[in-house]
Amino acid sequence: MAKIHAAITGVQGWVPETRLTNFDLEKMVDTNDEWIVTRTGIRERRILKTPGWATSDMAAEAVKGLLEKTGTKPGEIDLLIVATVTGDMIFPDTANTVCDKIGAKNAFGYDINAACSGFLFALSTGAQFIQTETYKKVIVVGADMMSSIVNYKDRNTCIIFGDGAGAVLLEPRKDGNGILDFVLRSDGAGREFLHMNAGGSKMPASHETVDNGDHFVYQEGKRVFKFAVEGMVSTVQDVLRRNHLTNDDVNWVIPHQANMRIITSVSEHLQIPMEKVTVNIEKYGNTTAGTLPLCMWEFQDQFKKGDNIILTAFGGGFTWGSVYLKWAI
Ligand code: UT7
Repeated sequence: MAKIHAAITGVQGWVPETRLTNFDLEKMVDTNDEWIVTRTGIRERRILKTPGWATSDMAAEAVKGLLEKTGTKPGEIDLLIVATVTGDMIFPDTANTVCDKIGAKNAFGYDINAACSGFLFALSTGAQFIQTETYKKVIVVGADMMSSIVNYKDRNTCIIFGDGAGAVLLEPRKDGNGILDFVLRSDGAGREFLHMNAGGSKMPASHETVDNGDHFVYQEGKRVFKFAVEGMVSTVQDVLRRNHLTNDDVNWVIPHQANMRIITSVSEHLQIPMEKVTVNIEKYGNTTAGTLPLCMWEFQDQFKKGDNIILTAFGGGFTWGSVYLKWAI
């Protein structure tokens, strides 16, 4: 009997309308467009300004679009997973809020916190429920409102991050297409270099934590950069080796959009040309869990059924990994 794989049968993204350009940032911190473009590749990012809106609203917008384009009714969804580090609240899970906002009455949901690798971790997890024939329709969302945890007085971080969400529908397929393999890794020792100190049980919110800026993203960019290139390259190579693929067999690499120099370095190390690498960092910056589905959404018209696609990411935790899939639409 043909093996069942979890296939992505629809992709939808959503980004806020408000643009924060490099020129806007020049007025906020000691930086300039030329530095940002050459060091990161970013020209602008989207910022969620709608009063009362949060990560769940961006996710819900992406999911509503996904349901419409795939002809799926909210009641048909079995499970909805949200990858995010900027959930609406510490609890309950943002996935539950999203299910409520879209009317997914028969679904259960939960969040996965794996920072910039969150979408990969959530996608691999969601795929298991399809592959084991437990469920028929699983939605995986990557969404982050990074503007809610970025210090707009810190030029090291505020130039990088943006807000956005992307969602995919997973359904069973027996034609050999779908999610075929993944290599995921984490190393908690890396938390030193990329984290948000306060707001959890280690350092509950207080006047002092607010005054110290402990509720903002802290990143040692140079250290993270080095680990990011190594982690993405090694897990792509692992996934290729395990599936007897050469770099020539790869039709597309969808990398996390953290820094254009990381993306080109990954492409060079893998000897996979940039024409096969999806890039939209110039428009959205680093949307954390949102980058991979947003890239997939924007490039899907160029993908062909059966294309070998590798998704790869690195982020806070540290967490990193790569997923191998054959495009199914
Ligand atoms: O998505 C999760 C994982 N995150 C990543 O993968 C991010 C990885 N890291 C990076 O993308 C880069 O390290 C950054 C974009 C964060 C920083 O770029 P960099 O080339 O590593 O710069 P740097 O931190 O080494 O700083 C070089 C210089 C410093 O000045 P001095 O000490 O050489 O005088 C910084 O103070 O550039 C300065 N600098 C800036 N100058 C203008 C740092 N940020 C800025 C800025 N504008 N925004």
